[in-house]
Amino acid sequence: MTRLIEQTLTLYASHYGDPYDAVYAKLYAMDSTYEGLFLLDTDEGLRRNMMRTTLEIISTYLADRNAAANRVVGAQMSHITYGVEGAFHTFFEITRDVIAEALADAFTPAHAEAWNTMLDDLQKAQI
Ligand code: HEM
Repeated sequence: MTRLIEQTLTLYASHYGDPYDAVYAKLYAMDSTYEGLFLLDTDEGLRRNMMRTTLEIISTYLADRNAAANRVVGAQMSHITYGVEGAFHTFFEITRDVIAEALADAFTPAHAEAWNTMLDDLQKAQI
């Protein structure tokens, strides 16, 4: 499973670079109020940090699932103040979907299953 997820991350990065623009476009499309949550983030530094943290948690999961679960709990807690802790895990799903759509046939059912297993595991790391 680890190898399959790494393959998709490497393939995406080598062809498309950072998924930042595509992921946030999908996030804002999900709920028109979401973009407004980042009003103060004028240089997009926080959003870039959020995207980087999401990819770091995925890399952490591939090496140490418990450590990843702890990071998810910590990050999700910090989202209570933004009132989006319920939507927290959608950012992992959006990241998966952006990669899957861009890779098209190269994102096989085996890759999808590996991602879905990971997202299920991360979802279990509830606050
Ligand atoms: C995989 C799930 C997510 C992770 C790992 C994550 C991570 C982070 C991190 C690390 C920060 C702090 C950035 C900093 O202080 O430099 C942050 C801030 C924030 N996140 Fe997330 N986030 C996730 C999902 C979401 C979702 C789904 C939303 C909205 C629907 C959201 C909305 C926000 C907002 C509004 C801020 C603060 C922005 C500001 O203060 O201007 N996050 N997030």
